[in-house]
Order: sequence, then C-alpha cells, then structure tokens
Amino acid sequence: MASISVLHWHRFLGLAAAMTLAFAGAAGAQPSSGTPASGPAAMAPAMPGAAPIDRAKILSATGVFGDFSVYKLRGEYAMLPAADRKAAAAEVLAVIDRHKDKVTVDAYLTRGFDANSDYFLRVHAYDLAAAQGFLTDFRATRFGAYSEVTENLVGVTKGLNYISKDKAPALNTALFATTYTDPAPRYAIMIPVKKSAEWWNMPEQERMKAIVGHTETSLKYLVNVKRKLYHATGLSDADFITYFEVNDLEAFNNLSIALMEIPENKYQPRWGSPIVLGTIQTVESVVNTLSMTDRGM
Ligand code: HEM
Repeated sequence: MASISVLHWHRFLGLAAAMTLAFAGAAGAQPSSGTPASGPAAMAPAMPGAAPIDRAKILSATGVFGDFSVYKLRGEYAMLPAADRKAAAAEVLAVIDRHKDKVTVDAYLTRGFDANSDYFLRVHAYDLAAAQGFLTDFRATRFGAYSEVTENLVGVTKGLNYISKDKAPALNTALFATTYTDPAPRYAIMIPVKKSAEWWNMPEQERMKAIVGHTETSLKYLVNVKRKLYHATGLSDADFITYFEVNDLEAFNNLSIALMEIPENKYQPRWGSPIVLGTIQTVESVVNTLSMTDRGM
C-alpha cells in the first residue's frame, strides 16, 4: 500500500475487478484517435490490439486527471424504439473499447437519489485531452446524445500536502494502518469542495493544524469508507473533488456531520452543490437500466 499512500487513495483496489468488465466487452471494436472527435463519422479507424490502460496503475498514480461528468437523460429517450434503446449499451461499450488505451471509465446510477441527474461517469486519463476525446465520442452515441450534462468537474491526483511521512509521521502511519472492512461498497459519492481565500492565506502551520483535526476526526471511518482526492483549483470551479465509496451510508452521514463540526468547515464556502450519490455499476448496467432493457452485467 506504500505507493498508494501518497494519493489520498483509500484502499480501493478490491473494487477494480468489479468495474473492469465494462471495458472488456465490445470485442473487435476500434481504438481511438488521439484527437477529440465530433461524432461517429469523425472517429479514428481501428488500430487492432491496442492494450487497455493498466487500471490499478492509473488509479494509484499521481498526475492523473479525473473527469467527473453528471448527466440527466432527456425524457424523449424513452420514446425511441425499443430496438434502438436495446442497442444503446453495445454502442457505448464500443466507444469505451476504442478509447481503452487512453482512458478508464466508471459509471454510477444516480436515478432516484438526485433530482438533477440519472447517472455520472468518472473518467481517468494521463492526458486530459484523451478524456475529452472519449467524452466527445460518448456524446455522439445515441445514449450520450440524449444525455444532458448537469455538472462537469476536472481534477488531478497529487501527493499528500499535509499528512505526509515527513510532516506528520504518526498520523501518516495511522492512516495506512486502518483498512476498509465493510462489505464491498455499493455506493459512490462525489462532493466538490471549495476553500475560501482566508484558508489559502492562512500560514501553513495553521492549515496543517486544521487538516490534522480533519484526519483525527475521520480516521475511525476508514473501516467504512474508501476515498480519493482530486485537486481542482484553476481547473474547475472547485478546489477539490472528493470521491468516496461506501456500503454503510449511515457511517458516511456520521462522518460528514463530524467534519461539519470542526474548524476547517469555517473555510469551506462550497461543500457539495452538487453532492452526487450513485450506485456503483458497470457502464453496461447503467445504460441498460436507463434504457429499460434487460440488465446485462
Ligand atoms: C475516512 C474518512 C476520511 C479520512 C481518513 C480523510 C483523510 C484526509 C487526509 C489525511 C487529508 C490530507 C491529505 C494531504 O495531506 O494532502 C484529507 C484531505 C481532504 N479531505 Fe479528507 N478524509 C476523510 C473524509 C473526507 C470527507 C468525508 C470529506 C468531505 C468532502 C473530505 C474532504 C477532504 C478535502 C477537501 C481534503 C483536502 C484538504 C486540503 O488540502 O485543504 N475528507 N483527508
């Protein structure tokens, strides 16, 4: 776990296998061009045999871009002929397959949890333009074309700023001594956070003190929560995109309340807006569920 410790990366690998099958399908589909395409006609020709991105590696590396896009499916989609909706998942999987050497794609169903969305995607790429290339091709699919984007945030993974081995050795050890013990997470939660100018102008020791408080408060929830932090200042209208996977939503509610009660919270003008909660699913399952066809896993 040493290499992932630098990432605010929160014991996540067990989930990887569950989510990879979204990329495994669509045999014979074409790989991507490096250039964002504006639709199927603009897509690059096949480059057979392009190797998929190493998922465990991209999920544990620094300098990786995370692109979170949240979607609401237009009502008109349900009016499409059943055959078109039935073909939707295969079309989306083929696009994922074409881009599999440059991006990884995770999908979450939010319908029933959030008035403004039905699903969201988390795309990882070493090159942000590659994420754009995928998302542009995705929007050119039938399913993507009927999806309205209700939020889109971009962040990058970095090493620890505060609770590093050097600056806070005891807490750093504690951070990685606790492992997730709940059943496999079924839910993912994305929360954008913005900190105030006052925060950024505080001396580093004061910010350090606040983050030590944040860590001490939240450590005991590591048994319930897997987490990942993306830095977004200057890239999106937030300073951080926080991403969590949980099975126990009540524990996450308690953790959130605990973090509301500490001094750090005085410096967070944005916490959520939106909070996006979804079930962790394969892309195929999300598309099929929203297309009202048989759920293929
Ligand atoms: C198991 C629960 C959690 C633990 C153990 C935890 C731990 C930490 C640690 C150690 C850091 C410092 C990273 C560094 O040194 O750069 C951090 C940063 C951060 N955490 Fe958490 N956290 C937890 C839950 C949460 C929750 C629920 C939120 C709410 C959105 C959150 C938001 C953040 C943010 C925004 C930062 C960046 C702060 C900054 O750099 O100013 N964390 N967390």
